[in-house]
Amino acid sequence: MTTTPQTQQTIDRAERYAGSLALIERASRSTPGGVHSSFRLKGSPTPLVYSRGQGSRLWDVDENCYVDYAMAFGPHVLGHCHPAVSEAVAATLGTGQLWAGQHVGEIELVEAMLEVLPNAEHIRLGQSGTEMDQLALRLARAATGRRRVIRFAGHYHGWLDPLFVDPATDPFPAQDAPLTSGQSAAAAADVVVIPWNDVEAVRGVFEAYPDEIAAVFMEPILSNVGMIMPRDGYIDAVRELCEQQGALLVLDEVITGFRVRLGGAQELLGTRGHLTVYAKAMASGYPVAALAGPADVMGLLGGPDVMHGGTYNTGLSAVAAALATVRVLREENPYPQMEEVGGALIQGIRSLAADRGIELSVDGIGPVFQTRFGPEGGVHDRRTYAERSDTQVADRFLWELQDRGVRITHRGTWFLSAAHTMADVEQTLEAVDGALGAL
Ligand SMILES: Cc1ncc(COP(=O)(O)O)c(C=O)c1O
Repeated sequence: MTTTPQTQQTIDRAERYAGSLALIERASRSTPGGVHSSFRLKGSPTPLVYSRGQGSRLWDVDENCYVDYAMAFGPHVLGHCHPAVSEAVAATLGTGQLWAGQHVGEIELVEAMLEVLPNAEHIRLGQSGTEMDQLALRLARAATGRRRVIRFAGHYHGWLDPLFVDPATDPFPAQDAPLTSGQSAAAAADVVVIPWNDVEAVRGVFEAYPDEIAAVFMEPILSNVGMIMPRDGYIDAVRELCEQQGALLVLDEVITGFRVRLGGAQELLGTRGHLTVYAKAMASGYPVAALAGPADVMGLLGGPDVMHGGTYNTGLSAVAAALATVRVLREENPYPQMEEVGGALIQGIRSLAADRGIELSVDGIGPVFQTRFGPEGGVHDRRTYAERSDTQVADRFLWELQDRGVRITHRGTWFLSAAHTMADVEQTLEAVDGALGAL
């Protein structure tokens, strides 16, 4: 049985999510928090346990059906279980999966990526965004012979010690501050954290540490705090500063790559960095990530000097999934459709909120956007986002949507896919209206 989305406000969550509650209680006896990623801890009345996904839909173990906009935090740009991806994976199941050696699929995947990515000459494949960010860091240090790194408040480049550094406020001059308990302060000491979207802040750090900065890391569209566009010319200005100062600009396109356009944010914005990290939408949920860059810098990985390993790198099924994803994206070009469907959703959400007199802003574009409870505009970095965002209301909205059969991410991000339709939008807007009414 498939439960239809609820429109009443009187939902008994203990009953509706009984299966998830029981399973998380069971999992918690053997797994910390009952989950396998810190980002999955949040849930009301519990983190949910899911049973299957198809197209734009996801089902939990209680057979509640969701129009899914979490989309695994971004990978499912083609929707769950796209047939071309599933068939490509199935075709590898009888061949063996991992040979500690090369196979033709990985060559084809890199060639297919080079045909569509702006500004990429060579590519090294790995398994996660975190890993490829770490590789970009190592490579930048090796290429420049320097150790310090600039990154920006609110941007996320994976959870490893040398990059997961982000003070709670936006101090300048920058002050280094490890975030998580158990983190090495020594590893974090090389990171300088400054506010984003401010060229002078970058210039200031280059002046404070002449000839010491190896790389500047940034998300070209800030997607881990709201969905914030770079100011006009900002990325180009930072790249020029990097070039003047002998540093590398690393654009982290783990969210935007293959999602906002086939060529990612660099295609959308008409800009470029030096090294680029891709993951998520390139592989439809299978573990493949990539670091792309100029042949001379990437070439350092071709010898013994710069180390990057991984037993599971380029597993056959994962590579087949990525190759099928890139090919479908290229052949079918779902981006105009995602703009249209996502755009209709954005307009619908805005007008429902306006009808109810609720200050709800929608930031971003069709393929990925964020709902923020706060005034329109004025958001250009993490501090201004925090000042203009009521996260408590956002949390209530999230659970009210979930009760009505719509799933978005815990930070209010909505990921579209090629499988989302106008019928999904209609159903979603009904749920949004109910959720807004219940706030
Ligand atoms: C911009 C960005 N970079 C890096 C990562 C880390 O990627 P992964 O979770 O594959 O390690 C993420 C994950 O959400 C991300 O959003």
